[in-house]
Amino acid sequence: MPASPTVLLTGASGVIGTALLAELSHCHVIALTHRTPCPGADEQLRGDLTADRFGLDQHTYTALAARVDMVVHGAAVTSFSSGPAATHLLNEAGTRKILDFAADAGAVLYHLSTAFVARHELTRANLGRDAGDAAARPEDYLDSKRAGETLVRASGLPATIIRPSVVIGHSVTGEISAFQGMHGIIHALLRGLLPLVPVPGPSKVDFVPCDVVARAIAALIAEGRSDGDVWVTAGHSAPTAERVLELTEKVAGDLGIAMQIPRMVGPDMVDRLIRPVFISGLHPRTRRRFDDMLAMTALFADAAAFPSSLGEIPATVAALTPAQVESAYAATVTHLARAKKLAPAPSAGPRQEVLAG
Ligand SMILES: NC(=O)c1ccc[n+]([C@@H]2O[C@H](COP(=O)([O-])OP(=O)(O)OC[C@H]3O[C@@H](n4cnc5c(N)ncnc54)[C@H](OP(=O)(O)O)[C@@H]3O)[C@@H](O)[C@H]2O)c1
Repeated sequence: MPASPTVLLTGASGVIGTALLAELSHCHVIALTHRTPCPGADEQLRGDLTADRFGLDQHTYTALAARVDMVVHGAAVTSFSSGPAATHLLNEAGTRKILDFAADAGAVLYHLSTAFVARHELTRANLGRDAGDAAARPEDYLDSKRAGETLVRASGLPATIIRPSVVIGHSVTGEISAFQGMHGIIHALLRGLLPLVPVPGPSKVDFVPCDVVARAIAALIAEGRSDGDVWVTAGHSAPTAERVLELTEKVAGDLGIAMQIPRMVGPDMVDRLIRPVFISGLHPRTRRRFDDMLAMTALFADAAAFPSSLGEIPATVAALTPAQVESAYAATVTHLARAKKLAPAPSAGPRQEVLAG
């Protein structure tokens, strides 16, 4: 492999792509952009992964394949409410196009999947629970990501499947290029809009900072990894739902936000009592929000910890400790609270005087 390999990065403008660009300074990165430009890449090429040859003319496509050593495939429909057709069109059929390209290029593929493919059976649809008014259908997303993984494995190409859990902000600053579903729940907690959380207290809530995900992918590339599944997760260091709420309250208190810890209730009680008695009479928009939260949080209720590969694969990115996970979560809550103007920006620290001589 060349010292500075040429990497085609799809999804470069996304949450993981943005964090990854900062870690790929040893590579020549060509971003396959879609709607959003990506000025941080060495080169940009506009394309659409749902179109043949990514919508490129034959000459451009062939010339690209001749140059690329590796593909990091991060483009995906990540919304749970885009519907099965659009979700599969990019996450499954688009992955097939990427595999064709990797074969044409003789390139190693780093395919971004999700740890939640392992929790497919926990969706409300698969548990036979009523989706109610939810627009969020995690089963569409998870079906498409499972199908993408199956294609990658069946291709026989040199490829590593990367499975992050929920991506949160930078481990120190909490910054992230776009807020995620998890941020929506934290925001609602900070504003006192969640009277209950439909997850039993002991359930593990696994998240991983975006810089750790980026460093893990960069390390896989540097190590020349070209097979296997890599779990980029907190694993056994993930806090319980109960601990996440305690931490949120603690950080909120430190920021001067009064927050009450909501009750944690199992999905059975929600379905038997809370939805029929308290939720059914609410405004349709409020009902839909509640049912969306039920759909998303179903993936955590009573779930066992994910495996984690960190510390082994890649060898150079250590496993996260519980203290690191909690500190990263606190950074995310703080950044979100400030970005949403729920807490004042930090006052500038004392000016550093540079003394001459
Ligand atoms: N974020 C997480 O918490 C998380 C957790 C686990 C796994 N993952 C996986 O990690 C990968 C990256 O996720 P992410 O959160 O970074 O995604 P994201 O922020 O939702 O970004 C999606 C990316 O896909 C691009 N894209 C959309 N439609 C496209 C098309 N037709 N052709 C080419 N590109 C297209 C988007 O470009 P435009 O914006 O220009 O359309 C954007 O750069 C995905 O495979 C996701 O399943 C994410």
